[in-house]
Amino acid sequence: MGVADEVQVAKLPAAIRTRRLTLRRVRLQDADDVFSFACEDIWMRLLPDARQPYQQRDAERWVARRFLADWPTEPTWATEIDGRMVGWVGLNIEPEHAQAELSYAMRPDLRGQGLATEAVRAVVDRVFLDSPLGKVWARVDTPNAASIRVLEKLGLQREAVMRRCLVRHGELIDLAVYVLLRTEWTPRPLDS
Ligand SMILES: CC(C)(COP(=O)(O)OP(=O)(O)OC[C@H]1O[C@@H](n2cnc3c(N)ncnc32)[C@H](O)[C@@H]1OP(=O)(O)O)[C@@H](O)C(=O)NCCC(=O)NCCS
Repeated sequence: MGVADEVQVAKLPAAIRTRRLTLRRVRLQDADDVFSFACEDIWMRLLPDARQPYQQRDAERWVARRFLADWPTEPTWATEIDGRMVGWVGLNIEPEHAQAELSYAMRPDLRGQGLATEAVRAVVDRVFLDSPLGKVWARVDTPNAASIRVLEKLGLQREAVMRRCLVRHGELIDLAVYVLLRTEWTPRPLDS
């Protein structure tokens, strides 16, 4: 069996517990929670089909797409506290290249408490524990200091900067690529 075959049969768990969070599959009922905080500008560009003004049906479309996405290659975990979806962690897995790209977000009023780091760390750990993928990576706008900090806390290293890569708010900005190889990942006790 080649690497790609092994990856395709790898199973990432749909439910993950951390110290403060429950990670579980996105549900159609999450649309109200998504809608309640997706009006923030920075979320908008993370949500495909986001339109101004963001409407309930946009949130419904997003959760439906995440719910229906192919779990082995496009898993999305809702991060939940007290039964409410407060963020998410997603992976875009390329089995043929044995790697996964990360995306994540946390509800604005809960930021700065280490919750995104806790959630993303749990997913990165599961990737290396439960699949033969050799690399997780993320691309991040260089002005997004909080996101860069999350990646650095998890040990991802800046590997490249694509200069003047994207237009955000009418300005060309740089995009950085952060990478963690399996060989650089440090196993640690699981939260659950
Ligand atoms: C990026 C995001 C997920 C971080 O969520 P969070 O729960 O606040 O993350 P954490 O608390 O785990 O860590 C945030 C870190 O960034 C730091 N930080 C926050 N704002 C910062 C700023 N303006 N400049 C520098 N550091 C900053 C925090 O101090 C913290 O670091 P510390 O633990 O060393 O103090 C959240 O800001 C978000 O949802 N942003 C919008 C979506 C997004 O940008 N997603 C990533 C796309 S690549």
